[in-house]
Amino acid sequence: MSELEIRAARYRDTEDIVALWRAAGLTVPHNDPYEDIRFCRDSGQGEVLIGLLGGVIVASVLVGHDGHRGWIYYVAVHPDHQGAGHGKAIVEAAEVWLTARGVPKVQLLIRETNTGVRAFYERLGYADEPRLIMTKRFVDHTGWERRGEDEDAPAPHHAGISTTVTYLEMLERPTRPTVPAPSRPKVSLVRAKSPTVSFYRYLYDNVGGPWTWVSRRFMDDETLRDVITSPDVEIYVLWAEGVPAGYGEVNRGAKPGEVELTYFGLMPDYIGMGLGWYFINSMIDIAWASEPDRIWVHTCDLDHPRALGNYQKAGFKVFGQAVEREPDPRAVGLPFPASHRNGPMPPDGSDDRAGPGGGNDANVIPINKVIPLKR
Ligand SMILES: CC(C)(COP(=O)(O)OP(=O)(O)OC[C@H]1O[C@@H](n2cnc3c(N)ncnc32)[C@H](O)[C@@H]1OP(=O)(O)O)[C@@H](O)C(=O)NCCC(=O)NCCS
Repeated sequence: MSELEIRAARYRDTEDIVALWRAAGLTVPHNDPYEDIRFCRDSGQGEVLIGLLGGVIVASVLVGHDGHRGWIYYVAVHPDHQGAGHGKAIVEAAEVWLTARGVPKVQLLIRETNTGVRAFYERLGYADEPRLIMTKRFVDHTGWERRGEDEDAPAPHHAGISTTVTYLEMLERPTRPTVPAPSRPKVSLVRAKSPTVSFYRYLYDNVGGPWTWVSRRFMDDETLRDVITSPDVEIYVLWAEGVPAGYGEVNRGAKPGEVELTYFGLMPDYIGMGLGWYFINSMIDIAWASEPDRIWVHTCDLDHPRALGNYQKAGFKVFGQAVEREPDPRAVGLPFPASHRNGPMPPDGSDDRAGPGGGNDANVIPINKVIPLKR
């Protein structure tokens, strides 16, 4: 008897679901599992249902309908828990999801290489219905892919975006005097205690939009509310004569003794007005206020070309770089940055794809080689 706790997946379950699919052998190069989860959840026509044992995700199904038929995908039970009725339980949960929406028929596809699973579905009352399936895949701006050519090649639209991320840290509080606020425009830095999700999204989307900040755009409201109202997280808004000109965010809770400067940036209209130096140093002072052993920040090659140099000028030292993957920004309505069409920028910034000044800011202290992450 299965004693699975079954519920709809939330954003924060994504990594565990992808790990389950990998363990069950369901991931293939031409489907991005992260994108598949996001697309399903945002479609309004589907849901990823997960089954938990003692709080651990051990089963999943992606269920949805196309306005005519119901479909199930990614039926998986972790290899350690197969044969205990969980597969049956999660498929039945998907069937209930569909019948509750008036969908009269459920269908599924079995890969030719996975015919062993056919007996499982037969036990659950499914029968083979001979049909010829024809498909065509839309590939990003290049249009429709011709089938049979290279089906295993990752589809660009699902491939996300690779960026070079630089991690910087400061191990001692700076000894400099407090950096004064500029006299014009008159600014004040005010903590936004428990901001509303809509106000936070306004800050994040407007500050981060030009630099392809996407991770929080992918978060649902509930998850984002949990993050921004966490007692460890502090959000500060830079007001310029009553208008929000930027925001910074620190997280004091990631690891004991550490504070992360999670986000920092100015609204596009306020860049180049001489506010940045005061603002970054004020955020550094705020980060140190709880007397941690270390503060740290990360920036990537999609950020403002001066970001890295300014962090270094303010006293941060690079401790690592890594090439990391972000979801495709087009999925949340942002353009795919032209500079990254052919992959991430080289870590040393020796590339002119970002246009004038891209990666060649005079403030940047050269990083001779890619430094492994030590923290
Ligand atoms: C397919 C899968 C989800 C089954 O999960 P499970 O938890 O092992 O299955 P259950 O224990 O719920 O089995 C339900 C019934 O199917 C039967 N069954 C399960 N796998 C079977 C198999 N390979 N062959 C024959 N019968 C099988 C069980 O004996 C059980 O029968 P019962 O109700 O008479 O006792 C799991 O094996 C899995 O994750 N496989 C890898 C991923 C995969 O191939 N997914 C399907 C993609 S189309």
